[in-house]
This record gives sequence, C-alpha cells and structure tokens, in this order.
Amino acid sequence: MRVAGIMSGTSLDGIDVAIMDIRGSGWKMKASVVAFGGVPYPARVREALLGVSNREAHVGAVARLNVLLAELYAEAVFAVARRNRIAVKSLDLIGCHGQTIFHDGAGARFLGRTVAATLQIGDGSLLAERTGVPVISDFRTRDMAAGGRGAPLVPFVDYLLFRDPRLGRVALNIGGIANLTAIPAGGAPEDAIAFDTGPGNMVIDALARRHSKGKLAYDRDSRIAARGRVDESLLRRLLADRFYRQPPPKTAGREQYGAEFLERLPPAMRIEDAMATETALTAASIAMGIDRFVRPRMRVDELIASGGGVRNPRLMAYLAGFLPGVRIRTSSEFGIDADAKEAIAFAILAYESLHGRPSNLPSATGARGPVVLGKLSP
Ligand SMILES: Nc1ncnc2c1ncn2[C@@H]1O[C@H](COP(=O)(O)OP(=O)(O)O)[C@@H](O)[C@H]1O
Ligand SMILES: [Mg+2]
Repeated sequence: MRVAGIMSGTSLDGIDVAIMDIRGSGWKMKASVVAFGGVPYPARVREALLGVSNREAHVGAVARLNVLLAELYAEAVFAVARRNRIAVKSLDLIGCHGQTIFHDGAGARFLGRTVAATLQIGDGSLLAERTGVPVISDFRTRDMAAGGRGAPLVPFVDYLLFRDPRLGRVALNIGGIANLTAIPAGGAPEDAIAFDTGPGNMVIDALARRHSKGKLAYDRDSRIAARGRVDESLLRRLLADRFYRQPPPKTAGREQYGAEFLERLPPAMRIEDAMATETALTAASIAMGIDRFVRPRMRVDELIASGGGVRNPRLMAYLAGFLPGVRIRTSSEFGIDADAKEAIAFAILAYESLHGRPSNLPSATGARGPVVLGKLSP
C-alpha cells in the first residue's frame, strides 16, 4: 500500500511529506521510503500560527487556519509527488498529524473538572477532497480519551524500526522539542521508555530570530554557537529547572521554550555565548534525561538521532561529549532520512489505524490500554 505521511512540528518551519510503501502488519510490517520532501511555511502563515499557539486568540483565526493549513498540506503533497514523479492518484492513504496549536496532555482544572486537551489543525476532510485520497488525522485525541497524554506517539514506530536483539538503543528526535524512545536489547514494546527531554531547536531558533531581527530562522551549521563559550554557571542554573527532574511520562511544548524563555538569559550576554550555552542546554538536558530515567533501567549502546538538530554540529558534538560510551548514529544510516522520521511515523500510524489496529504504546503515553488512533475522512 502506498501511504503519504505529513508532519509539521513545533519548530513551525514547514511541512514534511514522506511517501512510503508499506506491507504486512504489526511488528512484521515492512515499510520503505519512496520519496521525501518539504515545503516551508510562508512567513505570514508562520506568524499567524505563532499568534494562535498557546495564547488567547480569536476562534475565527483558528477556524480559518484549520482550512488554510489543509490547503497547504494538499499543495505540499502535490509538490513532493511531482518532484519525485509520483502520481498523487497512486496514493492509497494519507496520514496527517496537523499543526499542534495547543497541547495539555496532563490536564488542568476547568469549569470544575480536570480537562486534558489538545488541538492539531489542518482539516482532514478538505485534504481528502483536494487530493482524492482517504486521510487519517487527529491522532492524539483517542489516546487522551483513554487517559493517556496523547504523546509521544512515535515510540510505536521507533520500536518497529530500531529494536535490536542485542543492543540497547535510544531513538532521539531533535525537533523544536527533543524527545526519545529507549528500547532495551531484546525488549518488548511495553518495555520502551519514552518522554520529552526538553528543548530541541526551539530556544536556539528563538535566539537566532531575536538576534537577527527575524532574518535568521536558526543558527545555520552552528555558526554563531561555534564562536561562543558555554557559561557553565548559567547552564547549571538552567538545568536546575524542575522539568528535568520530573520522572516520565512527561511532555514539553512551546509554552515552556518559546520566546519568553529567552528572558532567563542575562540581557548583556554576548549572542555567541548565549547561543553556545543554549545549544549546550539542549544537549545536556537530553543526556540528563538518559542518565536519570533510562540508564537505571537498561544498557544504552547506541543513540539514533533524527530531526533538524542533527544538522547542528555543535549540538551533536556536545551530545557526544555528555554521553561517553554511547555510539551516536543518525537514522539516515538505517534508511530513515533524519529529516523524514516523523513524517514517516505518521504514514505508518495511519496504515495501522486504517487496518483497525492500535498504535499507541500505553507505556509511553500513560493510556489505560491500546487504542486505534485517528479519524478517517474516506
Ligand atoms: N543546517 C542547519 N544548522 C543548524 N540547525 C538546523 C539546520 N537545518 C535545520 N536545523 C534545525 O532544525 C530545525 C527544524 O527541525 P525539525 O525536525 O523540522 O523540527 P520540527 O519537527 O519541530 O518541525 C530548524 O528550526 C533548525 O533549528
Ligand atoms: Mg519541521
């Protein structure tokens, strides 16, 4: 079956599309990547998304963005298909994560009850209508209805792709937020440990944007961080945040590491030193998560990194420094383009859902049991 996965992450950099051929079922599934590509969000769309993410916003803006994003997703599918000479008609299914504009997996008191809520926008019906392909969207809500946090959902796919009979592995995705799935050697799916470790590229990106007055979206090839020095005492203070000590399951988001986070930096600090320190913070918080919550339960032989952070050389160098004895690899070495992993994941999750099979890992989300994820727009 040919399945497209569409992902747009917390970085708000754009839309990733992976086109896959998938056969078989469950843990015997065979999935191969046929094509992968991306389309950046127009700057105005990104601004509008920032304007409605985790803040007071007009519901009309949210409703309109829900439609507009679906149009952009459809255009992204056509663009990636065209570039790779694939007919959109040949697709059997699309899995669309949508853009998260609000996520509170743990729940808060609201109108006298505890309510956990999440919202991924980019309407499935419109995407199905434009492409002529059935769409599965809205993956997180069913897991939350079953008492889970709705995240992370990628661990099912990490287990499928990266489990090994002899090696203990950590699959790490460094997107806006960094998250990992740890799989013990020869472990069962329910042995996987998964959680968000904290910031990925989000703080680095916010610093780059602020420093360049919006001209730089990120610290390309760590050019800024490479000229700075890590402020060790500031790094220690930032790492004292409760989040890093809190045991999993736990999720992080833009509400923690958005532009407001930069206010924790001394205003007079040189941009190069601030960038080096923030880059080290991402690496150190990942390593701390592994040391605190993974190593006590399993041996870690390899770390398999994916996401845009893999392209940040300082970040990867700090990570190697903080994790002695762990072999650092990238998912590309396993045939999974590092930029494509999350889009690939939502193609695989959609395929499972279409076949009526559950694909949340209750050990990762905290759900009461396995559930079939998503809503179908036939
Ligand atoms: N050449 C590069 N140098 C440094 N960082 C990069 C580079 N390319 C991409 N990135 C980082 O990757 C981020 C995008 O990562 P991505 O995995 O798409 O995140 P998300 O899933 O949150 O959208 C960019 O915002 C940037 O921080
Ligand atoms: Mg992205």
